Amino acid sequence: MQNLSRRGVLTLGAALGLTAVADPTRAWAWSSTESIAGTDAVTDPWSVWDDATDPLVASLLTNGQIPAVNTAFDSWVNNGDALPAGLPAGLTTYLQQVNTLPSWADPVKLLQGAQFNKRMSLYLFLLYGLGSGIMSTVIPREARNVYWSAGGAEMRSRAAKTFTYGYDLSAPDAFQPTGHFVVTSNKTRLTHAAVRHLLPQSPAWRSVTDDQDFRPISNGDILITFHSLGTFVYGRLNSWGIRMSATEQAAYLHMWQVALHLLGVRDDFIPASWAAAKQQSAYALTPILAPTPEGLDLAGILLGLTAQIDLGVTRGFLNEFVRYVLSDKIGDWLKLPRDLVSRGLIEVGWPAYVAFREGLSPILPTGFSMFDKFVRALAMLFLNNGTSPSYTPITIPTGNRPG
Ligand code: HEM
Repeated sequence: MQNLSRRGVLTLGAALGLTAVADPTRAWAWSSTESIAGTDAVTDPWSVWDDATDPLVASLLTNGQIPAVNTAFDSWVNNGDALPAGLPAGLTTYLQQVNTLPSWADPVKLLQGAQFNKRMSLYLFLLYGLGSGIMSTVIPREARNVYWSAGGAEMRSRAAKTFTYGYDLSAPDAFQPTGHFVVTSNKTRLTHAAVRHLLPQSPAWRSVTDDQDFRPISNGDILITFHSLGTFVYGRLNSWGIRMSATEQAAYLHMWQVALHLLGVRDDFIPASWAAAKQQSAYALTPILAPTPEGLDLAGILLGLTAQIDLGVTRGFLNEFVRYVLSDKIGDWLKLPRDLVSRGLIEVGWPAYVAFREGLSPILPTGFSMFDKFVRALAMLFLNNGTSPSYTPITIPTGNRPG
């Protein structure tokens, strides 16, 4: 946690809408009393991985069984689907245990969460894509892990797979038998377990990593990524003045709580409230943000892919929007060129656009159609990856990035 000075952390935390910022020199001090489990312990989540999954996947990789598993997984898509036939027995037994919602999942809240996703969809596409997606490149461990894993060399396909996850999570029937999200989460959890086995075999990754014991993707790392997604988006929606009922706020959190459980995060680390999530984010996410050569490369590729579609705005505008959403500090780390004219447009036009859309102002702002095209084009980019014939299923990797 030594990447930022205390002052820098406070400034960045405020810029990201994460107001409570803990002292980065202090050890993990987030008590599980604020968690779903409601226990009373202070356990370091960076030394917890996924004991239920990791040894199983390691043995499947060692025995060369993953390609056949990936093929069998092709037909396993809906939450209500039977497990595919012909899987290794150990994997079937494992999936029988984990391919289900946690006992504390609340079906009513999950439905309310789906309705909220629908109502917020345009903002969510924008914030997940240009906010969380780019923020992931200044989360050092995530950037290095993604860069040095197999998917790091194929970012178009990797981005499409990540969109699959986001699309499946945001679908109205995400947690229903016709939805995909429980299956997609299980495939992702298995993928993460494969990365834990594979990356330590990469000399290039070993030479740059600070991952504890050379084991990537701990529970703590997954929590950090959650905060760059759910907690960040929640904070931005609030700071943009978008009205959310108490029921909607609770439902959006609940959806992420279940998602974290399905990725193998222990219940005693999962925040029980938004207040607890913000506090955890202040400990876990804000102080560790930093640029890396790998993250710089990934951000360039991701923004390049986004700029290839017709957003109706210039590349300078796109760069400035990322700066606007994530802070100039992060924009500077990523060396995003300045375009102060676009920035002026955004500073004035975006709040006015949001106010008009939300019915908070009757005045149609100048630039409305430009902002509208921009957000709709981003949404289409996301939806095309999720629904077109190019729907990209998540597959378990069998190697690392060459090099
Ligand atoms: C793979 C989601 C946390 C590193 C994936 C995939 C998804 C995903 C959907 C499959 C797509 C693909 O294979 O590219 C998530 C979510 C997270 C999370 C929702 C937390 C809420 C993390 C963290 C790290 C990480 C904390 C590392 C610090 C990776 C890597 C891959 C991967 C290296 C494999 C890329 C490859 O195919 O080589 N993740 N992830 N993820 N994730 Fe995560």
